[in-house]
Amino acid sequence: MHTGKKILVTGAFGLVGSELIPVLMERFGKENIISIARKTIDPTFTGIVEHGDVTDSAFLRSLIEKHQITEIYHLAGLLSAGGEKDPATAWDVNVNGLRHVLELAREFNLRVFWPSSIAAFGPSTPKQDVPQHTSLEPTSMYGVTKVSGELLCQYYNHRYGVDVRSLRFPGLNGWKAAPGDGTTEYAIHIFYGAIRNNAYTCFLKPDATLPMMYLDDAVRGTIDLMEAPAESITVRTSYNFSAISFSPAELVAQVERLSPGFKITYEPDFRQKIAESWPQTIDDSVARRDWGWKPTFGIAEMANELYAHITEKLANE
Ligand code: SER
Repeated sequence: MHTGKKILVTGAFGLVGSELIPVLMERFGKENIISIARKTIDPTFTGIVEHGDVTDSAFLRSLIEKHQITEIYHLAGLLSAGGEKDPATAWDVNVNGLRHVLELAREFNLRVFWPSSIAAFGPSTPKQDVPQHTSLEPTSMYGVTKVSGELLCQYYNHRYGVDVRSLRFPGLNGWKAAPGDGTTEYAIHIFYGAIRNNAYTCFLKPDATLPMMYLDDAVRGTIDLMEAPAESITVRTSYNFSAISFSPAELVAQVERLSPGFKITYEPDFRQKIAESWPQTIDDSVARRDWGWKPTFGIAEMANELYAHITEKLANE
């Protein structure tokens, strides 16, 4: 397929990459998508894979030259809980890794996608309908890396014209990859608990409402943003990006519908504090206006999909 694109994806086998890559391959041709894996690799994967460390700038440069890359989806990074366990590595991977990518993008004239997060917000951000421009004073190291990354992206765009685009991802819920070490990830773990044991112990309180999204919506939004004409992109930090908001108790009601007799136990831990520092609902009207963003999955549709796919996945293990 000749699309003129050669896309490099870091973090290719993580939560987002695992669902984004098949869609990129379908859309732009399997031979035009190059995935980087460090450790995790799906044995059934048939695309092009390069093995190495994404924080190694020389390695990235060699791949850009070898494959004549035109775009990078830079997804590799630590999440909120992982970042609290190892703040130094979170900074190194999430910030220094991004800066290397932006430097290479400047040199090779690459378009870049980089995910920010609702973790960029903090206790001084409004809890409801967070506007695009608001207070960004996160309390987690993950959030600190996301605000720093947003500012780096904007800097590289303003100073060097790098065409970098970004979304503040809410909690993303998918089924292809195992859930990562984040705070919103209870919403994926709960399905594995329901299917395996009809029970789950939740590390957040029942009323910890957070912004969430089904991964199919996130993948579509990400590609739509990357395909939008450059002149329609007015935000070069990161776009607010929203679909649904729900609490653990609301998700439990969905799981009970799908798995009668399901038993939930609540044992909040340090992740509850992280959840409390984040807002509950996000105003994404700027993304809707600039490049036509619109979510499609509600909580019930998302729960149905996750339950069905994870049941099938576990049956095949
Ligand atoms: N899912 C992420 C986390 O909880 C949010 O960006 O860490």
